[in-house]
Amino acid sequence: MNAVVFDHCGDPEEVLQVRDVPTPEPGPGQVRVRMLASPVNPSDLLYVRGMYGSAPPLPATPGFEGAGIVEASGGGLLARRVMGKRVAVVSSMGGNWREQTVVPARQAIPVPTDIPIDQAATFFVNPASAVVMTQYVLRIPRGAWLLQTAAGSALGRMIIRLAKHSGFKTMNVVRRREQADELLRLGADAVICSSDESIPDRALALTNGNGVPFAIDAVGGKTASDAVMALGANGRMLVYGTLSMEPMTVDPRTLMVNHKTVEGFWLSIWAARQNPLTMLLLFRRIGQLMRGGVLASDVGATFGLDQIREAAREAAKPGRHGKVLIKIAST
Ligand SMILES: NC(=O)c1ccc[n+]([C@@H]2O[C@H](COP(=O)([O-])OP(=O)(O)OC[C@H]3O[C@@H](n4cnc5c(N)ncnc54)[C@H](OP(=O)(O)O)[C@@H]3O)[C@@H](O)[C@H]2O)c1
Repeated sequence: MNAVVFDHCGDPEEVLQVRDVPTPEPGPGQVRVRMLASPVNPSDLLYVRGMYGSAPPLPATPGFEGAGIVEASGGGLLARRVMGKRVAVVSSMGGNWREQTVVPARQAIPVPTDIPIDQAATFFVNPASAVVMTQYVLRIPRGAWLLQTAAGSALGRMIIRLAKHSGFKTMNVVRRREQADELLRLGADAVICSSDESIPDRALALTNGNGVPFAIDAVGGKTASDAVMALGANGRMLVYGTLSMEPMTVDPRTLMVNHKTVEGFWLSIWAARQNPLTMLLLFRRIGQLMRGGVLASDVGATFGLDQIREAAREAAKPGRHGKVLIKIAST
């Protein structure tokens, strides 16, 4: 079978190759999934570059999520229960950019058949992060403001729709002015363009000088530093991405005097700390919200497995529209 493989970390356009590798056999408690589709997320590209936060066991196959059909079981109750089902495959060690993959049965999550395959392929990473950050960690109450950076991202758009659905308000930071109208149409309450206006000044103006109670940042650098300045007294900010690859600068007095908090959020660590019931209820909630279109991903260009370098190039393009998807098989 074909698999995307890299032997050393580096630029995805240079190090990714498609190789014929042996079909893996599932052991006890594992299943083999025939993969249908998988997205190219920013975390996949960081993993290939060796900058993700956990080192790939080389040679490695990227792909933290995707969807497929369970075609073989290595035995065990859970593995037998998902046999033949269409599942979302979640793996914190990558491995989904291949025609067949083996995972523990608990990482093969049955997805309702009325959810299209491109949405099933993006079932976990962004939807779970949107729900968990806003509702499980920050617990944003109805009517409260959330400031988010990289608001035009797939995840940012989910949060705008989730806010409309749940009743909190979003202040959305983008780097390109042309994204503003699109996000306002989607339900954004306010859009701030970081390239031509001050994030803290605009946030203070929108909150009668109080600052925002909640913020989430995926950019880092000056944008993250400005988001901290936009927080009000007792404000809380989650840092969940490093898109600019630049460190943030925070005046310790603003944290101290105003009792602000800046915390890291990483979905894989959060998920590893939850019990199976919490995860089951989260998967159910994602399924419901995805069916209702709240947690939908806009899909942009699609590529075959053999076009992986083109897919990586497209995914890294600034101003790209929609999630890049790898179509691995049609049925
Ligand atoms: N911590 C976690 O557990 C976790 C989980 C899920 C996702 N994430 C992170 O969430 C972020 C969004 O993921 P996604 O899949 O939604 O991404 P995506 O759809 O690929 O979108 C990326 C967005 O980031 C913007 N962007 C890229 N570089 C930027 C920069 N230097 N400054 C400002 N904006 C920049 C792009 O803006 P343009 O449109 O202007 O190009 C684009 O809107 C990523 O950083 C990802 O790693 C983290």
